[in-house]
Amino acid sequence: MIILGIETSFDDTGISLTEGVGDSVQILSNVVASQANAHQKYGGVYPTLAKQKHQENLPLVFKQSMEGAKSPDAVAVTYGPGLSPCLWQGITFAQEKAKEYGIPLIPVNHMEGHLLTALLYDGEEGKFKTSLAQEYFPALSLLVSGKHTELVLVEGIGKYRVLGKTRDDAAGEAFDKTARILGLPYPGGPEIAAQAAKFQSASQRTKFKISLPRPMLHTKDYDFSFSGLKTAVLYDYQARPEQERQSKEYIQEMAAEIQKAILDVLMKKTFAATNMFNTKTLAIGGGVSANEELRVQFLKETESRGIALRIPPKHLSGDNGAMIALAGYTKWLREEYLPPDAHIEASPKLRLA
Ligand code: KG4
Ligand code: ZN
Repeated sequence: MIILGIETSFDDTGISLTEGVGDSVQILSNVVASQANAHQKYGGVYPTLAKQKHQENLPLVFKQSMEGAKSPDAVAVTYGPGLSPCLWQGITFAQEKAKEYGIPLIPVNHMEGHLLTALLYDGEEGKFKTSLAQEYFPALSLLVSGKHTELVLVEGIGKYRVLGKTRDDAAGEAFDKTARILGLPYPGGPEIAAQAAKFQSASQRTKFKISLPRPMLHTKDYDFSFSGLKTAVLYDYQARPEQERQSKEYIQEMAAEIQKAILDVLMKKTFAATNMFNTKTLAIGGGVSANEELRVQFLKETESRGIALRIPPKHLSGDNGAMIALAGYTKWLREEYLPPDAHIEASPKLRLA
């Protein structure tokens, strides 16, 4: 079963072909055109520009992902959550392809794509297994991306319960917005991580005594809040003399503290949930799961608690078409697909459960 996966919910145009045989899924091609450079000067994603870029990129990315490949048996496409004009670009393109090839359409929730990419990753380059032994469940999924931060209880594939989510900014957004304050380029996550690594590798002592809040660290729910972090960074930054706040020592120390504050909260809430629900597996997905320090800390903690950690390789952490094709395959296995001429609506606020 060859599935064409199409992803255009935000600022990446992703198209992939995957082949599913029984419970095994293999990525045949996975092409992503990033728009990061185009959005650089806005310090975030500018919807009208993103839509236009998707329109330009889709045929090119499609051509590249189809090179030497077999023709698809179904088209899976993200229909939400995301930016409405961007979602529509992918949906319209998917509908064209479904009609052209006369194959079924499978609408996919972007967050389920991230979740399954983490949970089902087989540890072998580009391979997934869709039949996880019962001993892995219940599982917990921490989804951390540019627009979402969620803890999801997973009873099985397609059986989700959202335990908590962010009340304001997402973890990725906190990285992006604080990076912008420090004058670092978009997307901010990798930039903050790189600056923080320099601080740690230089084993600098805290020269500036920066101390950021850990919002909602001690609340008894599974919700998050990261907007206060951005405000605290802004106040600290503004209170420093120009020369000091532009020094590389300050930026490195601040980046390390930002990353630490975000990870402290993510760790605390996640392991409170693994305790409460006695989960056997932790699956971490979304762009922020590429963060090296996050990987190190969660690996250490899951090992000491005897929890299986599932996390995709870094190049599959961010948005891509393969995650949509993979989730699409699991839906196809459950016979959840639509005819080629089916109407699909973009659903910008689509939820997992
Ligand atoms: O899942 P994703 O690619 O797009 C959305 O669905 O939002 O996530 C993008 C987010 C951005 O906020 C970006 O700054 C963050 O993931 N990110 C990282 C890292 N790489 C990407 N955050 C922290 N550390 C990283 N290494
Ligand atoms: Zn995403």
